[in-house]
Amino acid sequence: MLKLSIRDRRGLVSEAELAAAVEAGLPTLARAQAGEADYANDQGWLRVDEWANEEVLANIEAIAAKVRASCDAFVLLGVGGSNNAARSVIEALADGAGPQIVYAGNTLSANAMNRMLKQLEGKRFAVDCIAKNFETLEPGASFRVLRRALADRYTPQQAAERVICTGTIGSALEKLCRDEGYTFVPFPTNIGGRYTAMSYVGLLPMAVAGVDIRALVRGAADMERALHTGAPEENLALRYAALRNLYYQRGYKMELLASFEPQFRWFYKWWVQLFAESEGKDGKGLYPTAAEYSEELHAVGQYIQDGAPLMFETFLDVEARQDSLVVMPDGKDDHFDYLNGKDFYDINKAAFAATVTAHSEKLPCLIFEVPALDAYNFGQLFYFFQFACYVSGRLLGINPFNQPGVEAYKGWMFKALGK
Ligand code: PA5
Repeated sequence: MLKLSIRDRRGLVSEAELAAAVEAGLPTLARAQAGEADYANDQGWLRVDEWANEEVLANIEAIAAKVRASCDAFVLLGVGGSNNAARSVIEALADGAGPQIVYAGNTLSANAMNRMLKQLEGKRFAVDCIAKNFETLEPGASFRVLRRALADRYTPQQAAERVICTGTIGSALEKLCRDEGYTFVPFPTNIGGRYTAMSYVGLLPMAVAGVDIRALVRGAADMERALHTGAPEENLALRYAALRNLYYQRGYKMELLASFEPQFRWFYKWWVQLFAESEGKDGKGLYPTAAEYSEELHAVGQYIQDGAPLMFETFLDVEARQDSLVVMPDGKDDHFDYLNGKDFYDINKAAFAATVTAHSEKLPCLIFEVPALDAYNFGQLFYFFQFACYVSGRLLGINPFNQPGVEAYKGWMFKALGK
């Protein structure tokens, strides 16, 4: 199970202040656990079993098995909440034994689209078009391009067999599937994109890539249980949400998620989107950002340690010793003999400990101990951060489930394109 510790050498928030904030947040936690009527259309993720039950998992596994048997590449077509969860797990855990996962529907760049198409050359491929309302420009436009690529390669029937759509029942996408004979699976009507990791949206591409989705769902369900039962004063999501809001009130306007494991590279993107789109509204909200250490210590590390005090840091620290690589002496005078016989695992841990010691002199540091970097723990992280984001957003006094700003830019863009 995840554990949270706080390193704040300037004592910005005392234990007593945190306890008072947690106490004040208890009614918010209780409402979130029960699910608020105002957000009933957005809370299909609260009970993992609603969209990740046996029937759904078995159907996903059957579809994934077919794709794996007939494809060298699989195009995950979607943007924002429609691709970030799947990508974060696939890029961290997939062993490369299944089809190559190619990402599309997340750009309008002709160059990027041509590069994407190039990756499909000479490969048998299938497409999963994931779009909740099927009006978003990036996936809609890319889907056209990919339908053309399929038509150029296959007969109409073969092409149709290579298209899966994850869309809302009753949407134009569902109608297209019926008309063209594509496989259709439901995008939950009662979940917004960024909360859909535990549904067809996230799980189908992960299964195609060979990820153990049952372990992932088990992790999410265990975290659901932990956050919905037990002593409310000890609730990890409430403690984290209370801390975030306390730091925000004390003038820290950014939260930096960091880890010394590059496997989290795409998870950062999921996390940033979750918090930015959920909390950044009504002129409020922490700005979420991320840094991949140790590399970024040689870039943003300087600012974090010495620049304007804008941010606090949240670390993901993986406990399990999953890999090992020992530095061997090579008899050359390179001044690195102090590393002889040391494992990179321990060197990385030493860099982590030193960073927390240095940074916590200047800014508050939160540390989440993640037991291992595997599917089960990714499931835990998804549920934990989704629930914490909900609680945190409600403490902030905003609606964590809409995105009115995104809709505004879309309006201007559609006008410019003559829609
Ligand atoms: O989290 C969200 O709701 C958004 O980021 C959406 O996922 C994103 O805009 C894509 O929407 P759609 O699936 O409708 O194309």
